[in-house]
Amino acid sequence: MPEVAEIARARFEADGVPVDDVEIAVTSGTLDAIERLLVTRLRPGDIVAVEDPGWANLLDLVAALGLSTVSMAVDDEGPLPDSLDEAIALGAQAVIVTARAQNPTGAAISEQRAIALRAVLAQHPQVLLIEDDHAAELAGVALHCLSGVTNSWAFIRSASKPYGPDLRVAVTAGDEETMGRVIGRLRISTGWVSTVMQRLMLRLWLDDDVTTTVAAAAASYDRRRLALRDALSVRGLQAHGTTGINLWVRVNDETSAVTALRDAGYTVAPGSMFRLASPPGIRVTISPLDDEMVELFADAVAHAVHPAAAGAPGR
Ligand SMILES: Cc1ncc(COP(=O)(O)O)c(C=O)c1O
Repeated sequence: MPEVAEIARARFEADGVPVDDVEIAVTSGTLDAIERLLVTRLRPGDIVAVEDPGWANLLDLVAALGLSTVSMAVDDEGPLPDSLDEAIALGAQAVIVTARAQNPTGAAISEQRAIALRAVLAQHPQVLLIEDDHAAELAGVALHCLSGVTNSWAFIRSASKPYGPDLRVAVTAGDEETMGRVIGRLRISTGWVSTVMQRLMLRLWLDDDVTTTVAAAAASYDRRRLALRDALSVRGLQAHGTTGINLWVRVNDETSAVTALRDAGYTVAPGSMFRLASPPGIRVTISPLDDEMVELFADAVAHAVHPAAAGAPGR
């Protein structure tokens, strides 16, 4: 819908995404956009650079498409520039990065890191860059965008995190050829994304009460995530989570940590779902965690990770 593209363009522009004269497409979520991008640009056996640890569903999609992966190491400021360089040297034709609220580590690409990553990408203009900004309005930190340096790029922003995953709506901006292929592929398959959902998206974007609610949710996630990160650090655990709804906690043994936490009444995700070559960890999602539960839960994690040192869990 032109109205959706128009508002999406203004919102992209405000965040520094280079959308002058570029096409904007609506897809049924992020993975739908990424699948169309990869299918139209790559062939089975081609190599995709992915963050490690990275989003499990994306790793599954890349494998299901018959593509190979090469991993990029990630710290709190995003993929490491040397690692990106190495991945491209190893033959990556496409690179997928998460702008903010990286899943599972909560990394957000910082201003300095964006400059360094853009410098690497500028040396490889043939690479397809796919940027995933799924946290969007919920991110709580500024966007430092990489798009526009390479000849082929796509910047995807999902409605799932700020407005609800059941909308199944994401907007993508990209260079003319890349977007032409995505839109063409959409036409010969699902056709378009329901205009009922697109109209709903538009109303949510333009509703002041919704905007206030999303901002309050972002502040609440920030508060609870940082409280838990601090509580875990105080207990000697290495926890990452600069943005978003997840914390990544380094552990030596994922199975025993996940099992001990389950016995204490908590479900966390084993890091193996998110890892290729990176060391073990667990992903903790803070969305169901109340402020009052933070200390108790941190005790339980400490006990699960270092049972002898931490004493009995508090739950
Ligand atoms: C890294 C990442 N990208 C995107 C999404 C959202 O995907 P979709 O837009 O397909 O709902 C998620 C959801 O958890 C995610 O973790």
